[in-house]
This record gives sequence, C-alpha cells and structure tokens, in this order.
Amino acid sequence: MERHKPVLLDKVIEVLQPQVGESFADVTGGWGGHSAALLDAVGKSGFGYIFDQDSAAIAALEQRFSSAENVAIVKANFTNDEFTDKVPNVHMILADLGVSSPQLDLPQRGFSFRSEGPLDMRMNQEQSLNAADIVNTYREDEIAKILYEYGEERASRRIARSLVMARKVKPITTTTQLANIVSEQIKTTGRIHPATKTFQALRIAVNGELTVLERFLEIAPSKLVSGGRIAIISFHSLEDRLVKNCFRSLSTADRDNYGQIVSEPSFKRITKKPILGSKFDSNNPRARSAKLRCLERIN
Ligand SMILES: C[S@@+](CC[C@H](N)C(=O)[O-])C[C@H]1O[C@@H](n2cnc3c(N)ncnc32)[C@H](O)[C@@H]1O
Repeated sequence: MERHKPVLLDKVIEVLQPQVGESFADVTGGWGGHSAALLDAVGKSGFGYIFDQDSAAIAALEQRFSSAENVAIVKANFTNDEFTDKVPNVHMILADLGVSSPQLDLPQRGFSFRSEGPLDMRMNQEQSLNAADIVNTYREDEIAKILYEYGEERASRRIARSLVMARKVKPITTTTQLANIVSEQIKTTGRIHPATKTFQALRIAVNGELTVLERFLEIAPSKLVSGGRIAIISFHSLEDRLVKNCFRSLSTADRDNYGQIVSEPSFKRITKKPILGSKFDSNNPRARSAKLRCLERIN
C-alpha cells in the first residue's frame, strides 16, 4: 500500500521548532510521517502521544514505532478525553486534518469517486453512521443543506432531488453510483470532477469534521505548556476559517469600551498568513489545498 507523504513536512518542523527532550501530541497520526520527524527531533529524552481514530492507521503506527519506547499510540478521536483529559500539557501539538492517502486510495473505504467501493467514508470504522445512511435515509432538504454548507455546492438542491428520486428506484450503495447521479446533474469544465464537492460534503457530515474541529480548537491551545506551539494543517476553506478565527482571537488583547487593554493575550501567532502547500510542497499532490497555521502559548 502506498504510504502517505506527509504534507508540508519541512514547514511543520520550521514552525514547531522541536527541541531535544520536548513532548508532543500528534492528534492525527495517520501513517506517522510527521510523528517520525518530530520523534527524531525530540530524541530519546522526548516523548510523543500519537492519536488516530482509524484502526488501520493505528495498526500502521504501531508497526512503524514498534521499537520506540518514548511513544504512546492511542486509538481515539482528538476530542475524546483520551486526549483532552489524559494527556498532560505538551510542548507541541500537531493536527493534520482530513483523510490520508491510504484512506483515500483504498476503494473499500468509500472516500473516493475515482474507484468503485461501498458508500462508507467513515474514518472511525466503529462508528455506525456512514455515507450510504445519509444518502438513503436523510430528507431531501437535509441532504441539500449538507451539500450546500459542507461542500459549498451551488447545485445542492438539484443534486439532493436527484438522489431522492434515484433511491426510490434502488438504494445508492456505491461510490460510482453516487458519482454518476451527481455527474448527470452538473456540468463542470476543467479537471475538477463534478462529484468533488458532494463527496467532500458527505465526508465532513459522516465524520462530524467541523464540529470536532471547533471542539478541538476550544481545548487544544490550553493543553500547551508556556512556550508551546500548536500547528494545524487544513484542507478546505471551512476548516481554515475556523482555525484562522480561533488563532486570531486568542492572540488579540481584550479591550474595554474605551479601547484600553484589559488583558494581554496568552498566545501569539507564529504565522500571520497561512503557509500554502501549493507554494511550499508543490511536488506533493495531496498538499495542493493545504494551509498551515501555527500559534505559540506565551504565558
Ligand atoms: C491527513 S492524515 C494524517 C497523516 C499524517 N500526518 C502522516 O504524516 O501520515 C489525517 C489522519 O487523521 C485521522 N483523523 C482525522 N480526524 C480525526 C479525529 N477527529 N480524531 C482522530 N483522528 C482523526 C484520520 O483517520 C487520518 O488517519
């Protein structure tokens, strides 16, 4: 199986500035590319907590780091108390959001319209809700809302209507069935597949991606030691907006009605503008839409 090429690896190391003896939490371990580099940098006296909610990723991480004594590999969502309560404050936190290459490329995971597979899209295989449930059981207006809000799909209503019509004839159970129904509804020019936004929207809905990111942003910065750094790589504008607004607000002083500072911020932005995968990791196709932002805790 193709390994995942870590996105913006050099830039992640540049902004996180790992030092020997430091600790980190990689909350989206995946296939361990970023974690391996961080472990190298912190050395044997450092420590890494590595999380993923996907059991295939956990198996790969356990194999990759089987000889390392300074890692804890945990199968959990990064909003679970396994991370929020049980991990002590660390020097670095990394979240490389979204799905990995092995998840996308395995047809049986159902993430991609490029190959035939079951309409699944769950990152956590123990979760019950999958994409077929949404497409076959949600109301037409609920489906349209998901496509519009999470996919920014302008043809959301038309697509939702056609899905509801199609499922009356036969349940929609495969990625290609879904992709074909969507393709009949919209014409796109250029290289973008017509079902791209629909697949993104359903994946976000199945995995509750924006809800968990909001929750993570509420908690994660306070899990840094003073001087600690958090880096987040996002892959679409909905995620990046949440990260940008959170980092901006945490690094802004509170002022009273007269504009006087009442409290200084506890964080400062290491990146005022996002570091773009299209510019700094252009040989990695998965980095095309990546945006990296980093924040430091200053007290
Ligand atoms: C883009 S990949 C990370 C790749 C990794 N940085 C590497 O170098 O191999 C994202 C990973 O995060 C996991 N993931 C996404 N959201 C998660 C969440 N809320 N909690 C735990 N893991 C999550 C996915 O299952 C996937 O394996």
